[in-house]
Amino acid sequence: MLDLVPAPPAAAWAPPAQGHYPLGRDTVLVAHPGTEGVARWLRATVGAATGLPLPEGDDSSRIELRIDPEVEDELGPEGYRLVVDGYLVLLVGGSAAGVFWGAQTLRQLLGPDAYRRAPLDPAREWSVPMVAIEDKPRFGWRGLMLDVSRHFMPKDGVLRYLDLLAAHKLNVFHFHLTDDQGWRVEIKRHPKLTEIGGWRARTKWGHRASGLWTDTPHGGYYTQDDIREIVAYAAERHITVVPEIDIPGHSQAAITAYPELGNSDVVDTAAIEVWDTWGINANVLAPTDETLRFYEGVFEELLALFPSTFIHVGGDEAMKDQWKASPAAQARMKELGLADEDELQSWFIRHFDTWLSERGRRLIGWDEILEGGLAPGAAVSSWRGYAGGIAAAKAGHDVVMCPEQQVYLDHRQDGGPDEPMPIGYVRTLEDVYRFEPVPPQLTEEEARHVIGTQANVWTEVMENQGRVDYQTFPRLAAFAEVAWSALPAPADRDFAGFETRMAGHYARLDAMGVGYRPPGGPLPWQKRPAPEGMTASLGRPIEGAPPNV
Ligand code: ACM
Repeated sequence: MLDLVPAPPAAAWAPPAQGHYPLGRDTVLVAHPGTEGVARWLRATVGAATGLPLPEGDDSSRIELRIDPEVEDELGPEGYRLVVDGYLVLLVGGSAAGVFWGAQTLRQLLGPDAYRRAPLDPAREWSVPMVAIEDKPRFGWRGLMLDVSRHFMPKDGVLRYLDLLAAHKLNVFHFHLTDDQGWRVEIKRHPKLTEIGGWRARTKWGHRASGLWTDTPHGGYYTQDDIREIVAYAAERHITVVPEIDIPGHSQAAITAYPELGNSDVVDTAAIEVWDTWGINANVLAPTDETLRFYEGVFEELLALFPSTFIHVGGDEAMKDQWKASPAAQARMKELGLADEDELQSWFIRHFDTWLSERGRRLIGWDEILEGGLAPGAAVSSWRGYAGGIAAAKAGHDVVMCPEQQVYLDHRQDGGPDEPMPIGYVRTLEDVYRFEPVPPQLTEEEARHVIGTQANVWTEVMENQGRVDYQTFPRLAAFAEVAWSALPAPADRDFAGFETRMAGHYARLDAMGVGYRPPGGPLPWQKRPAPEGMTASLGRPIEGAPPNV
C-alpha cells in the first residue's frame, strides 16, 4: 500500500506493472514549457536529498514534466497525472501548480530520506514504485493561518513552514501580521509601527489567567525585502500569501506606535503599551479620516508587496466601549448617519472593501464583518463555528471554513494531564480527520461559495518553533487530507487507514525535523509543567465541544 498523505482517490493507484523504476546519475529531468519552476524545485530538494544531479537532456532514463490542457479540462488546473512505468516517470499537470503537486507525490513515493537536505549515502540506489495516479484537490483554498504577532517567528521559520505547507499540498498561507501584541511588517511611511509596535517589554506566560510573565522583551518584524523573499518563495511553491492587518480591533500595537490612531478623548492613548497579555481589550481605532488615510497608506504598501487577490482586514472582536464613551466617535457616527457602534464597525470594513475593490483586490475578514452587511465581492473566514459561514454563503459571499471548535490548532490534542498546552477544546488527530468543511445546511448551489478551508495556529502559548510544530503536527496532515482529498462523510472516513499511512508520514516529518506530537503523547522534552494558575480547567470546557457536522 502506498502511504501517500493526502491520499489520491484509491481507484487511481493501480500500477501499470509491478516493480520499481530506477533513478540514477544518468536520469535526466525534462521540463516542458511552463514547468521550469517545478524542475528547479525538484533539483533543489529531491536532488539535494538523493545526490542525483537530474540534468537536462534526452537520455532514455527520464523524469518528464508537462502541462496539458486536456488534464486541466478533466482535473482542473491543480490536478495531475503521474505515471511511473518501465520506461519513464511522466508527470502531467493541468497547470504548473498541478505539476508541482504531482512532484510532491513523487517525492513521497521516494521515501522519507527524500526529505533530507543531503544524502545519507551517496552510493544508495533510488527508485520509484510503478504507479498510475490521477489526482486533484477538493478545494481551491487549502490554508494555514500563522499568528506571528503573539510570538514572532523569524523569517527562516516562516520559509520552513512554507516548505511544510507545500509537502502537504496546502496552497494558502494566511499571514497574521498584526495584533495587540506586536506589529510585524515594515511600513516605510509609518516606521514606528515596527520600531515601537514591534516590541513588548514582557509577555504573559501561558494562559491569560496565569499570574506569570516572562521578564524579557519580545519582538521582531519582517522588512519589506523579507516579505518579498517570503512571497517569492511561496510563489515558487504555488502558495499564495494572504496578509492580514487587523482593523478596527486588535490594534493596540499600532495605537502604541501612533497614539493619534486611538480614541484619545476617552483614554490616554499616549500611555498605552504594546500588550503583554492575551485576550480581547478595549483599545480600538478612532473613526477619523486620519485613521482611514493612515491605513490606506499601510494597505498601499501591502498591495505592492503581496500579489494575492484577497487581502485580510481582520474585523474580529472589536470592543465598542470606547466608541460608546467617546464624544468624538459619537459625533462622527451622527455625521455619517450611523445608528449604532455595530454600524461604525461596518463603516470601517466597507471603506476598505471599496478601497480594495477599486484596486482590483478582494477583502476577506473574520465572520464579524458580516454583521453590518458586505459588498458582493467580499469573503468571510468563518471562525465562530459554522454559523457565520452558513449565513455568508446563503447571502452569496465566498467563505473559508475555519471553525474554532474544529481547526484551531492551538487547542489541546488530548484531555490528559501531560498536554503542555492545556487550552481550548480537545481536538484529537481523529477529530481533525473527521472535520467537514461544508455544513449540511447549505444547498449545492450555496456550498459552491465554500471556496475552501484553513487551519489556524494562534501562538499565545507557543513561544518558539518547537511549540508551533507540536501543536500543528500531526494534525495538519489530517487537515491536509480533509482539504485535498474528496473524503466521504465524517462518520464513514477510514481513520484507521489514515493512521496506517501516517506511520510512513511520521518518517517524512522526522526527516524534515518536525517536532510533532507523537501518537503516544508528548516526549519528555515536549512536556512542561503548567504555569501557576494555568490548569486544564482554565481553557474552554473540554466537555461539550460541538460535534463535527
Ligand atoms: C479569532 O480567533 N479571533 C479570529
